[in-house]
Amino acid sequence: MVASLEPRIAEVTNELLDDIDGTGVDLVESLAYPLPVIVIAEMLGVPASDRGLFRKWADDLLTSQNMDFNDPKFVEEAKEKVRDLDAYLLEHIVARRKQGRDDLLSKLVEAEIDGEGLDDGEITNFSRLLLVAGHITTTMLLGNAMLCFHDNPEAAADVRANPTLLPSAVEEILRVRSPFLFSARITAVDTELAGTPIPANKMVAPWLLSANHDERQFPDPERFDPHRDPNRQSGFGHGIHFCLGAPLARLEARVALAALLNRFSDIEIADPAAVVYRESPGMYGVKVLPLEVRR
Ligand code: HEM
Repeated sequence: MVASLEPRIAEVTNELLDDIDGTGVDLVESLAYPLPVIVIAEMLGVPASDRGLFRKWADDLLTSQNMDFNDPKFVEEAKEKVRDLDAYLLEHIVARRKQGRDDLLSKLVEAEIDGEGLDDGEITNFSRLLLVAGHITTTMLLGNAMLCFHDNPEAAADVRANPTLLPSAVEEILRVRSPFLFSARITAVDTELAGTPIPANKMVAPWLLSANHDERQFPDPERFDPHRDPNRQSGFGHGIHFCLGAPLARLEARVALAALLNRFSDIEIADPAAVVYRESPGMYGVKVLPLEVRR
């Protein structure tokens, strides 16, 4: 399904880029936010024109300063924050139960394993995860790509001259400036990590960013090297919960960065002091990224 989306991703990217030229272009507003949200909304089958609402709901959820998973208040607040989004999704799910369409929500409504389907609550949870995880992270990846290129002009020129490097450059951006900083797990048994005892049944937050800068895994870890091979970066997590959307995020990043580099001979961060970072303990990326671009 993801591979077949490439032409549509290229089309949306080009439409968005048609509106860009000159100084003071905010990359987030003009490309990095709308592209992934339009793609995931169309895939699910909810109107992409409602993206202002998705942004508000996702921002509310992801800018929580309390990320203490062991705190019951955190869970209560999170439930409160997803209430409107869930009600919105449920409306679409109920409509698909009456009349299916060619979209992912309809497929989830129709899906059965051993004759058993998913109930409304399960589909709401899963489509919320897809909608929220499916756009903000890729928005950050695209912004982080520009920051990596800005900090490493020689590497950026190399990628521009050799577009076949784009897939490995995307892996290196995910490693150096990982959008998702940590994941969360519950310990199954009493254990010890680097000399620190951790009891069973405790929530822990393994830092993906730290793993991605581990010099035992990545020689010269602070260096941005689009040729890095092997690059076993953990930006999409690890193990059984490895990011379901990784193929889509990689495709969107490759298509969007190729289009940006193709269209503009020069891309600069207009004023580094005007870059606004997201204030979230768990996510790393920009909210506002003013660029100066020349065709
Ligand atoms: C650059 C973009 C993205 C990054 C950095 C990213 C990162 C991650 C990470 C680190 C995890 C693992 C969380 C954990 O282990 O607890 C994850 C899981 C997940 N991601 Fe992504 N993601 C991205 C894009 C996407 C997209 C585009 C989608 C949907 C289309 C998506 C859907 C999911 C889902 C459904 C899971 C949960 C998988 C599971 O629990 O089995 N992600 N993502």
